[in-house]
Amino acid sequence: MNILIYDTQEQVNKVGATILANIVLAKPNAILGLATGGTPVGIYKELVAKNEQGLLSFSEVRTYNLDEYVGIDGEHDQSYRYFMNENLFNHIDINKANTHVPNGKVADAEAECVRYDAEIEAAGQLDIQLLGLGHNGHIGFNEPDDSQVPGTHVVELAQETRQANARFFANIDEVPTHAITMGVGTILKAKKILLVVKGEDKADIVKQALQGPITTQCPASLLQLHPNLIVLLDKAAGSKLS
Ligand code: F6R
Repeated sequence: MNILIYDTQEQVNKVGATILANIVLAKPNAILGLATGGTPVGIYKELVAKNEQGLLSFSEVRTYNLDEYVGIDGEHDQSYRYFMNENLFNHIDINKANTHVPNGKVADAEAECVRYDAEIEAAGQLDIQLLGLGHNGHIGFNEPDDSQVPGTHVVELAQETRQANARFFANIDEVPTHAITMGVGTILKAKKILLVVKGEDKADIVKQALQGPITTQCPASLLQLHPNLIVLLDKAAGSKLS
């Protein structure tokens, strides 16, 4: 595990974008596993800037996102497809057909999970998977539990996750109750993992995930098993590490 700690979130964004950019520069048709949420927004802005400046092209890149809410379609402004379009895909030279987010508005969400896994499998190994970290240790929408499902699956969102995400909806009742998420097994299959965490409110869970016991009750702790894990933190998020 390689832990990088920077003073400011701006530095974290720049370094995160550089790590992703270097993968694409080395392999123009790289397969990127992407995340939504507040954490990667600044990284995506940096990638957009590199693309605008002609320093980086996404024309051959393929992407697979971690997760999507069940019950809302890609046009919904809180869907993760919409988020990705708004924060990244609409502003770079990527072919939208090469961008993949689970479809949350299908009649059969279980079948969608099987389809999504098969598609990732057929595409080949993800060159890198970008992750944020939930306050309860979730990665993707893999919530703390007695066991973890390896592949893409439907999850019931923990109340604290719905509460945390209610800030993006009119009220908590509008936050979907279920989501489709890549499983921890899918995530661990990526060649490289980039876990990015910012803010003092995540310092305790960062400590637990990286220096605590490996347990399905803290899904991010399973990342300790990955041979090529980069953790990128701001000073506040890393403040409790020994
Ligand atoms: C997002 C995702 C989640 C978030 C996590 C942190 O696709 O899968 O695991 O990474 O909830 O969210 P933020 O970055 O908003 O603190």
